[in-house]
Amino acid sequence: MLDSNPIPSPELLTVTEILEQKSDVLVAGLTEEGSLSSTLDMMDNLTGGWVKRLVDEGEIRGKSGELTLLASPADTGPRMLLIVGLGSGELDRDLAFESGAMLVRRLGDRQRETVAVALGESFPRTTHDALVAGALSGCEQQAIYQSEPAQRVPEKILFYGVSQESLQRGSAIGESINQTRRLVNEPPAVVFPESFAEKASSLFEGSSVIVEVWDEQRLIAEGCRAILAVGAGSSKSPRLLILRYNGGGSEKPLALVGKGVTFDSGGLSLKPSAGMLDMKCDMAGAATVVGAMHGIAKLGLKRNVIGFCGLAENMVSGDSYKLGDVIETRSGKTIEIHNTDAEGRVVLADTLDVAIQHEPRAMVDLATLTGACMVALGTDIAGLMANDQGVCDEIQAAAEIEGEPVWQLPMFDLFDEKVKSKVADIKNVGEGRWGGAITAAKFLENFVGDVPWVHIDIAGPAFADGAKPSRDAGATGVMVRSLIRWVENSDI
Ligand code: BES
Ligand code: MN
Ligand code: ZN
Repeated sequence: MLDSNPIPSPELLTVTEILEQKSDVLVAGLTEEGSLSSTLDMMDNLTGGWVKRLVDEGEIRGKSGELTLLASPADTGPRMLLIVGLGSGELDRDLAFESGAMLVRRLGDRQRETVAVALGESFPRTTHDALVAGALSGCEQQAIYQSEPAQRVPEKILFYGVSQESLQRGSAIGESINQTRRLVNEPPAVVFPESFAEKASSLFEGSSVIVEVWDEQRLIAEGCRAILAVGAGSSKSPRLLILRYNGGGSEKPLALVGKGVTFDSGGLSLKPSAGMLDMKCDMAGAATVVGAMHGIAKLGLKRNVIGFCGLAENMVSGDSYKLGDVIETRSGKTIEIHNTDAEGRVVLADTLDVAIQHEPRAMVDLATLTGACMVALGTDIAGLMANDQGVCDEIQAAAEIEGEPVWQLPMFDLFDEKVKSKVADIKNVGEGRWGGAITAAKFLENFVGDVPWVHIDIAGPAFADGAKPSRDAGATGVMVRSLIRWVENSDI
């Protein structure tokens, strides 16, 4: 079996004295305003005014994203100094996360033993866990099948002025993001419905998350004919994965639902080759649910949460589901198939139906659902569509705190017309391409009953074409942070 490099896990430690630590690189922050942090001040004294001179001369300006790696001229103290520009804006969680990730990636050109990070003194304490999470997330890359990946990971990262609690919280969140990213970055021959469920089972082994897997027989017994229809063309049979976390006593659970199409060829409505290349990412919604559940359990949040992942591979064969087929979904509603490439909503129809039987107080689904959402919002912003403004506002607030951009799209009744079928209750595409993200959400709304619900279309931000200083290309782990935050803060 093809085996990828393990997810990097450098040793993370908190320290109280920065210069007493032997480190290859000392990392400190500098804002545009230019006054030296106590660490930079120390370095300045150690080097006979060298840091202050570079700042005064405008060589180092503290601009946001500016990374200056210098060899120290002093013969004591750290050999190298990395100064991270922090700009002139708010020192918020997003900047802490990005800075943590950026510094690790900047230092990844060499194998470094110990990196001492003194950014804790620049950022407020409430952002320290984000700094740690970012640093961990900066360690994971998409080159998981290269024998010598270009990006190296330090053996130890020391955090100065960061509490043990922030360190633990940050590493739990960082790990969760990386679990999501790894599941998405694995090729489709490695991650398919059965193996996705197995990987999740072993991830949660010995944890407080109880894993249940519905195999093909169980899906038949449960009437999940929509999930089965999408998976019918594949030699890899579909699964439904249920993850239960009980941290909230007898309260009704929150539900997280994920689209887990482990490869989307489009089916008989076959995608052109270029549009198919990245379609291993079509299980990112399900992987986000796994990552968020992992974080929620690690943090021991005092809520009940159940995750549901609808897993199927959308392929072409003599058994593929067809255009014109009518599927009686688990809920009893019938769907006429007009395009087999609009498969995510079909898988979610049954997955949402299973979820609402658990009577959740609120439900959020995540899906790489529509190219139309990318046309509307671009590649960096997740689309929110909801039947309940209260929960939608909560998701928006959580995403705002974590710095993950989301934008709500309207759910006007007039879109209901667009998914009406002449043959069945509904059809799986709208009328033409217009408003495609919304018609997809309107389709899903048929399967959520009266549960307060938010649909998050992550087709844009889940998988990146290009790298940026704070993360590699490929899977991004978007919304893991925001979901954990939502579960923690929700008043529903
Ligand atoms: N998985 C795709 C959506 C997608 C596209 C995700 C690009 C990530 C990047 C989805 O299953 C799909 O194919 N949607 C179709 C729907 C259409 C046939 C109504 C689309 O967006 O073109
Ligand atoms: Mn598709
Ligand atoms: Zn898809």
